[in-house]
Amino acid sequence: VGGVLKEHEERKKQEAAAKIIVALDVDKEAEAYALVKLLSPPVNYYKVGMKLFTACGPRVITALKDLGVKIFLDLKFHDIPHTVASAAEVVARYGVDMFNIHLSGGREMIRATVEAVRETAAKQGMPRPLIIGVTVLTSFDARMLKEAGIERNLPQYVVSLALTGLECGIDGVVASPLEAEAIRAKCGEDFLIVTPGVRPLWSARDDQQRVLTPRQAIKAGASHLVIGRPIIKNPSPEIAIEKILAEMTK
Ligand code: C5P
Repeated sequence: VGGVLKEHEERKKQEAAAKIIVALDVDKEAEAYALVKLLSPPVNYYKVGMKLFTACGPRVITALKDLGVKIFLDLKFHDIPHTVASAAEVVARYGVDMFNIHLSGGREMIRATVEAVRETAAKQGMPRPLIIGVTVLTSFDARMLKEAGIERNLPQYVVSLALTGLECGIDGVVASPLEAEAIRAKCGEDFLIVTPGVRPLWSARDDQQRVLTPRQAIKAGASHLVIGRPIIKNPSPEIAIEKILAEMTK
């Protein structure tokens, strides 16, 4: 009985770990690799953002892929359709597993990106990266939206952008965990919802204002949790992740 229980717990832990994407918000390759070596397993998904990518260039992706982990390239493309589609083609060739674009770039930009990624992956004979849309940045509030000339209620605007993305063929969105429930209800079970702004109870909030715990975020409908500082700034990142997984599976 003990053995079966242990197996069950181990499986639950692996399922929880598969939902976590650790943000490698550092600016040195060596630091990024050290974190991956420390955290994998149980973690298998890492976010390479503007800072690491700008500091180290695309070779950081190749090197991380060589360690056998999945990569979410978080560069939030936003430009004219042709430019974003061309950059997305390059991303597809790197073999990243997920990347993102701003949905406010419009239908044409989203469709051109989806098409370019599909074609490139088919040509290369490799799986295509998942395309995730940024709806409204969580740093935006109602006043800023109004200033940008958008006369809509923020949560409704987020959901309508998510629906536009879904119609144009993207795989999911980045959203605050507080918006996850509404998006899940409108966009269906298969749509990915990647949520930053996740904080375990024991950790500092840093500059994240509207936060949920990992367990609450999953309950609200998140498919993936992006977690940075509570893990990477912890004196013992490997203990921080174990505590998060324990909290998620208890
Ligand atoms: O350290 P922390 O857990 O706050 O990291 C969250 C990560 O998610 C950071 O890389 C941050 O840039 C990113 N992010 C966010 N809020 C968004 C979009 C992305 O915190 N709305």
